[in-house]
Amino acid sequence: MSTGTRIDGKAKAADLSARITEETRALRESTGIVPGLSVVIVGEDPASQVYVRNKQRTAAACGFNSVQHSLEASASEAEILALIESLNNDASVHGILVQLPLPKHLDEQRITQSILPAKDVDGFHYINIGKLTAGATGDAFVPCTPAGCMLMIEDQLGPDLSGKNAVVVGRSNIVGKPMASLLLAANATVTIAHSRTADLPGLCRGADIVVAAVGRPNMIKGDWIKPGAVVIDVGINRIETSVDGEKKSKLTGDVDYESAIANASAITPVPGGVGPMTIVMLMANTLRSAKFAAGVEAS
Ligand code: GUN
Repeated sequence: MSTGTRIDGKAKAADLSARITEETRALRESTGIVPGLSVVIVGEDPASQVYVRNKQRTAAACGFNSVQHSLEASASEAEILALIESLNNDASVHGILVQLPLPKHLDEQRITQSILPAKDVDGFHYINIGKLTAGATGDAFVPCTPAGCMLMIEDQLGPDLSGKNAVVVGRSNIVGKPMASLLLAANATVTIAHSRTADLPGLCRGADIVVAAVGRPNMIKGDWIKPGAVVIDVGINRIETSVDGEKKSKLTGDVDYESAIANASAITPVPGGVGPMTIVMLMANTLRSAKFAAGVEAS
């Protein structure tokens, strides 16, 4: 039995990507400016390689100038900071992204905070985090994953979440905390749950919106979901399965999709839900940065 709607993040991302491509063409024709995205990747982490390849591919498809800077896993902090400084000073670069996680010897905070806030299309700089928290997002960059989740929630429930209870499971700086700020800005009543939360199933059962971002495969069960709730699954977990006795790996979310869709009014699948939206929001942020640089009104 399946009762909820499967939210097609891939289709929504394709629509947004087509709009961004069109706006990029219009910007280029009216100002000569081409959005420039610089992606820095350090080391050989296989998941990061895949993410960065997808980001590069989407940027190229949108008509951006997209440049990848691949550094050895042994790269020094000074080397990376020098690269970022040169990108900060390069007027053709509108967005700078350092793919995380970084190798252990590098200070992730020092590196992400060295990116100019005006080029921080990941929205990780404290200036951008502060503006989001203060509800002053006019010229701020909002982190891509929560921004994409928010668009999908709005599609289901509209822009005003007054009276809705939202539970965000996970308190990371990349997803959980900014997601909570966005939900709060939309008037939801927000709880951030995490590994030390008591009675997580009970808490989730009271939620009209559940955003799962914990990184534990299939942790959130169908009977934790209130009938009619909207469920957004940010988890991307690679698990081993056995198909006809053969070992295979597959991606799965933090939510047990098959049981949850029976209760939810709408739910994102993994893959094909949040992932494609995250990438397209990076493009939206980069185009927005290029428009600011061009003195064009950004939407
Ligand atoms: N690693 C996992 N998610 C992200 C993200 O959104 N941005 C960056 N830079 N690295 C990540």
